[in-house]
Amino acid sequence: MALVNSKKMFEQAYKNGYAIGAFNVNNMEIVQGITEACKEENAPVILQVSKGARAYANHTYLVKLVEAAVIECPDIPVVLHLDHGPDFETCKSCIDGGFTSVMIDYSSHPLEENIEETAKVVEYAHKYNVTVEGELGTLAGIEDEVSHAVGSYTRPEDVEKFVKGTGVDSLAIAIGTSHGAYKFKPEQCTRNAQGILVPPALRFDILKEVSKRLPNFPIVLHGSSSVPQNYVKMINENGGKMPNAIGVPEEQLREAAKLSVCKINIDSDLRLAMTGTIRQFFNEHPDKFDPREYLKPARANIKELVRHKLRDVLGCAGKADECK
Ligand code: G3H
Ligand code: 13P
Ligand code: ZN
Repeated sequence: MALVNSKKMFEQAYKNGYAIGAFNVNNMEIVQGITEACKEENAPVILQVSKGARAYANHTYLVKLVEAAVIECPDIPVVLHLDHGPDFETCKSCIDGGFTSVMIDYSSHPLEENIEETAKVVEYAHKYNVTVEGELGTLAGIEDEVSHAVGSYTRPEDVEKFVKGTGVDSLAIAIGTSHGAYKFKPEQCTRNAQGILVPPALRFDILKEVSKRLPNFPIVLHGSSSVPQNYVKMINENGGKMPNAIGVPEEQLREAAKLSVCKINIDSDLRLAMTGTIRQFFNEHPDKFDPREYLKPARANIKELVRHKLRDVLGCAGKADECK
């Protein structure tokens, strides 16, 4: 089937208590690893492209890679989404260039400006049957190439005005997740019996208040990598240096997916799987220099990681048919 927008996926995800995985793509191996997992698990998927990905790989290459995945996986619905679109022009260029969903991220601007710019994108996007994600609140970490040392939670009292004033199809909110592999400082965490850092809980109270104000409306969580400790260990044992890398516990994401969260963004976990695998390969095979030899296991580990997310975290394995 052809690329789709996110409308049907979110309706089904909301109704049936699961979330769609939105995975960032930057090259062929990442696209293949994700979509092979989704094909085998019969899962709908959102492949998302950041401004940085477009700068790195070129818009056309990324679109063509995703189109190739659609041909290889004809039975699963696939959305091609712009992640953190910084302005109307970037969103327009993606809509004109084949994307079926865009995010306009004006969350670091004042509310009125955010509403104005988002509404402009919605007006244009909807003419082409493209769905739009907006954002309220800011995540800590790198967002839209702007670094926020601390985030600010979404204010539930703003959400109705924003959604009504813009016509967006989904809303990203800030409830304690953040971008990257260092989501919580050790001093924010407690330690369990094994001495492992346990991060503070996400603000489910904000999520529930937002959902009460926006019944049946799909919510998005950015910064939702869980930073698998096996890959952090693999990186650190093979010449890397990632002390105290910590992510969002998977049980909390599962919980959020059962509520109003319909889209969960994952990028850093893919990077960790790829980097850990390649570091280990280089360490074990210092004589090898054929990229296919180290990209193959990296792609296989991305695939395994995504399968796990679909089955055990997002709950969207087996849901492809109902999302068509
Ligand atoms: O939101 C952040 C995503 O992980 C994309 O990151 O801008 O480095 O491609 P990037
Ligand atoms: P992570 O850095 O937690 O993977 O978040 C990715 C993201 O939100 C992309 O928009
Ligand atoms: Zn994000």
